[in-house]
Amino acid sequence: MLKHRVLLSEETIARRVSELAEAVHRDLPSADPIIVGLLTGSFVLVADLGRAAARLGLEPQFDFLATSHYGATTTSAGTVKMLKDLSLDIRNRPVLLVDDILDSGRTLRLVREHLARREPSWLRTCVLLDKPSRRVVEFTADYVGFEVPDYWVIGYGLDAGGQGRGLPYIAAVEQELA
Ligand code: IMP
Ligand code: MG
Repeated sequence: MLKHRVLLSEETIARRVSELAEAVHRDLPSADPIIVGLLTGSFVLVADLGRAAARLGLEPQFDFLATSHYGATTTSAGTVKMLKDLSLDIRNRPVLLVDDILDSGRTLRLVREHLARREPSWLRTCVLLDKPSRRVVEFTADYVGFEVPDYWVIGYGLDAGGQGRGLPYIAAVEQELA
Protein backbone atom coordinates (compact mmCIF):
# COMPACT_ATOMS: atom_id res chain seq x y z
CA MET A 1 0.00 0.00 0.00
CA LEU A 2 1.15 3.52 -0.76
CA LYS A 3 2.39 5.55 2.16
CA HIS A 4 -0.46 7.85 3.16
CA ARG A 5 -1.79 10.13 5.88
CA VAL A 6 -5.44 10.16 6.97
CA LEU A 7 -7.26 13.43 6.26
CA LEU A 8 -10.90 12.41 6.84
CA SER A 9 -11.88 9.53 9.11
CA GLU A 10 -14.67 7.02 8.47
CA GLU A 11 -16.83 8.66 11.14
CA THR A 12 -16.29 12.15 9.73
CA ILE A 13 -17.21 10.98 6.23
CA ALA A 14 -20.29 9.06 7.42
CA ARG A 15 -21.63 12.08 9.29
CA ARG A 16 -21.13 14.36 6.30
CA VAL A 17 -22.70 11.90 3.84
CA SER A 18 -25.85 11.82 6.03
CA GLU A 19 -25.95 15.61 5.95
CA LEU A 20 -25.59 15.61 2.17
CA ALA A 21 -28.46 13.12 1.85
CA GLU A 22 -30.62 15.35 4.06
CA ALA A 23 -29.82 18.41 1.94
CA VAL A 24 -30.69 16.53 -1.26
CA HIS A 25 -33.87 15.22 0.34
CA ARG A 26 -34.96 18.78 1.22
CA ASP A 27 -34.40 20.01 -2.34
CA LEU A 28 -35.71 17.07 -4.38
CA PRO A 29 -39.03 17.63 -6.13
CA SER A 30 -40.07 13.97 -5.75
CA ALA A 31 -39.01 10.84 -3.87
CA ASP A 32 -37.79 8.87 -6.89
CA PRO A 33 -34.44 10.34 -7.98
CA ILE A 34 -32.00 8.60 -10.27
CA ILE A 35 -28.57 8.72 -8.70
CA VAL A 36 -25.98 8.72 -11.50
CA GLY A 37 -22.44 7.85 -10.45
CA LEU A 38 -19.28 8.48 -12.44
CA LEU A 39 -17.23 5.31 -12.54
CA THR A 40 -15.08 4.26 -10.93
CA GLY A 41 -14.33 6.63 -8.08
CA SER A 42 -17.91 7.44 -7.09
CA PHE A 43 -19.05 3.89 -6.33
CA VAL A 44 -18.54 4.15 -2.57
CA LEU A 45 -20.23 7.54 -2.24
CA VAL A 46 -23.13 6.36 -4.42
CA ALA A 47 -23.63 3.31 -2.18
CA ASP A 48 -23.52 5.33 1.05
CA LEU A 49 -25.57 8.22 -0.29
CA GLY A 50 -28.15 5.83 -1.74
CA ARG A 51 -28.62 4.07 1.57
CA ALA A 52 -28.72 7.37 3.48
CA ALA A 53 -31.40 8.54 1.02
CA ALA A 54 -33.40 5.34 1.53
CA ARG A 55 -33.25 5.83 5.31
CA LEU A 56 -34.89 9.21 4.73
CA GLY A 57 -37.71 7.57 2.79
CA LEU A 58 -36.48 8.21 -0.74
CA GLU A 59 -36.61 5.46 -3.35
CA PRO A 60 -33.60 6.10 -5.55
CA GLN A 61 -32.71 4.24 -8.72
CA PHE A 62 -29.07 3.94 -9.73
CA ASP A 63 -27.12 4.26 -12.93
CA PHE A 64 -23.49 4.79 -13.87
CA LEU A 65 -21.47 6.58 -16.52
CA ALA A 66 -17.82 6.11 -17.36
CA THR A 67 -15.44 8.69 -18.75
CA SER A 68 -11.76 8.37 -19.38
CA HIS A 69 -8.97 10.83 -18.81
CA TYR A 70 -5.81 11.09 -20.84
CA GLY A 71 -2.52 11.80 -19.13
CA ALA A 72 -0.51 11.00 -16.04
CA THR A 73 -1.96 9.12 -13.09
CA THR A 74 -1.94 12.05 -10.71
CA THR A 75 -2.92 14.95 -12.90
CA SER A 76 -6.40 15.32 -14.25
CA ALA A 77 -5.83 15.36 -17.97
CA GLY A 78 -7.16 17.88 -20.40
CA THR A 79 -9.63 15.79 -22.39
CA VAL A 80 -12.62 13.80 -21.23
CA LYS A 81 -14.12 11.00 -23.29
CA MET A 82 -17.41 9.17 -22.65
CA LEU A 83 -16.78 5.41 -22.33
CA LYS A 84 -20.07 4.11 -20.96
CA ASP A 85 -23.40 5.84 -21.25
CA LEU A 86 -26.53 5.57 -19.10
CA SER A 87 -28.82 2.55 -19.17
CA LEU A 88 -31.87 4.33 -17.72
CA ASP A 89 -33.99 6.97 -19.41
CA ILE A 90 -33.63 10.14 -17.31
CA ARG A 91 -36.11 12.29 -19.25
CA ASN A 92 -38.52 14.05 -16.85
CA ARG A 93 -36.85 12.43 -13.85
CA PRO A 94 -34.94 14.11 -11.01
CA VAL A 95 -31.25 13.27 -11.36
CA LEU A 96 -28.42 13.57 -8.87
CA LEU A 97 -25.04 13.34 -10.59
CA VAL A 98 -22.38 12.07 -8.18
CA ASP A 99 -18.60 12.09 -8.40
CA ASP A 100 -15.83 11.47 -5.92
CA ILE A 101 -13.88 14.69 -6.40
CA LEU A 102 -14.12 17.94 -8.29
CA ASP A 103 -10.70 18.93 -9.58
CA SER A 104 -10.28 20.84 -12.86
CA GLY A 105 -14.05 20.68 -13.31
CA ARG A 106 -13.78 19.34 -16.87
CA THR A 107 -15.38 15.96 -16.20
CA LEU A 108 -18.44 17.18 -14.33
CA ARG A 109 -18.98 20.06 -16.69
CA LEU A 110 -19.00 17.78 -19.71
CA VAL A 111 -21.12 15.11 -18.05
CA ARG A 112 -23.63 17.58 -16.64
CA GLU A 113 -24.13 19.02 -20.14
CA HIS A 114 -24.47 15.51 -21.52
CA LEU A 115 -27.21 14.70 -18.98
CA ALA A 116 -28.97 18.06 -19.35
CA ARG A 117 -29.49 17.34 -23.06
CA ARG A 118 -31.68 14.37 -22.03
CA GLU A 119 -34.03 16.79 -20.26
CA PRO A 120 -34.25 15.52 -16.70
CA SER A 121 -36.86 17.36 -14.59
CA TRP A 122 -34.18 18.35 -12.04
CA LEU A 123 -30.40 17.99 -12.22
CA ARG A 124 -27.95 18.62 -9.43
CA THR A 125 -24.38 17.54 -8.75
CA CYS A 126 -22.84 16.12 -5.60
CA VAL A 127 -19.18 15.47 -4.84
CA LEU A 128 -17.53 14.20 -1.70
CA LEU A 129 -14.44 16.36 -2.21
CA ASP A 130 -13.68 19.66 -3.89
CA LYS A 131 -10.22 21.00 -4.73
CA PRO A 132 -11.19 24.56 -5.66
CA SER A 133 -7.56 25.63 -6.12
CA ARG A 134 -7.30 23.27 -9.12
CA ARG A 135 -10.25 24.53 -11.13
CA VAL A 136 -9.59 25.06 -14.84
CA VAL A 137 -13.15 25.45 -16.10
CA GLU A 138 -15.84 27.17 -14.10
CA PHE A 139 -17.91 24.65 -12.18
CA THR A 140 -19.70 24.68 -8.84
CA ALA A 141 -21.18 21.49 -7.40
CA ASP A 142 -24.54 21.85 -5.67
CA TYR A 143 -23.60 19.57 -2.77
CA VAL A 144 -19.99 19.33 -1.54
CA GLY A 145 -18.79 17.11 1.30
CA PHE A 146 -15.42 18.68 2.04
CA GLU A 147 -12.98 21.12 0.49
CA VAL A 148 -9.45 19.72 0.37
CA PRO A 149 -6.09 21.29 -0.43
CA ASP A 150 -4.17 20.28 -3.52
CA TYR A 151 -2.99 16.85 -2.34
CA TRP A 152 -3.45 13.63 -4.29
CA VAL A 153 -5.99 11.77 -2.18
CA ILE A 154 -6.95 8.09 -2.05
CA GLY A 155 -9.57 6.00 -0.28
CA TYR A 156 -13.37 5.89 -0.20
CA GLY A 157 -13.34 5.02 -3.91
CA LEU A 158 -10.48 7.30 -4.96
CA ASP A 159 -7.30 5.80 -6.30
CA ALA A 160 -3.73 6.53 -7.27
CA GLY A 161 -2.91 4.39 -10.29
CA GLY A 162 -5.48 1.79 -9.22
CA GLN A 163 -4.41 1.64 -5.57
CA GLY A 164 -6.25 2.75 -2.46
CA ARG A 165 -9.89 2.63 -3.56
CA GLY A 166 -10.90 0.21 -0.81
CA LEU A 167 -9.61 2.28 2.10
CA PRO A 168 -12.55 3.32 4.29
CA TYR A 169 -11.11 6.81 4.94
CA ILE A 170 -9.69 9.63 2.79
CA ALA A 171 -5.92 10.00 2.90
CA ALA A 172 -3.22 12.08 1.24
CA VAL A 173 -0.57 10.11 -0.64
CA GLU A 174 2.85 10.71 0.88
CA GLN A 175 5.16 9.19 -1.68
CA GLU A 176 6.13 9.79 -5.29
CA LEU A 177 3.86 7.97 -7.69
CA ALA A 178 5.28 6.06 -10.63
P1 IMP B 1 -11.66 16.85 -13.25
O1 IMP B 1 -12.25 16.65 -14.61
O2 IMP B 1 -10.26 17.40 -13.34
O3 IMP B 1 -12.50 17.63 -12.29
O4 IMP B 1 -11.39 15.39 -12.73
C1 IMP B 1 -12.02 14.81 -11.70
C2 IMP B 1 -11.56 13.37 -11.69
O5 IMP B 1 -10.15 13.27 -11.55
C3 IMP B 1 -12.16 12.66 -10.50
O6 IMP B 1 -13.36 12.02 -10.86
C4 IMP B 1 -11.08 11.66 -10.16
O7 IMP B 1 -11.28 10.50 -10.92
C5 IMP B 1 -9.79 12.29 -10.62
N1 IMP B 1 -9.06 12.92 -9.50
C6 IMP B 1 -8.80 14.23 -9.34
N2 IMP B 1 -8.11 14.46 -8.22
C7 IMP B 1 -7.93 13.25 -7.64
C8 IMP B 1 -7.27 12.82 -6.42
O8 IMP B 1 -6.71 13.58 -5.62
N3 IMP B 1 -7.31 11.49 -6.16
C9 IMP B 1 -7.90 10.59 -6.99
N4 IMP B 1 -8.54 10.94 -8.13
C10 IMP B 1 -8.54 12.27 -8.45
MG1 MG C 1 -13.33 10.02 -11.49
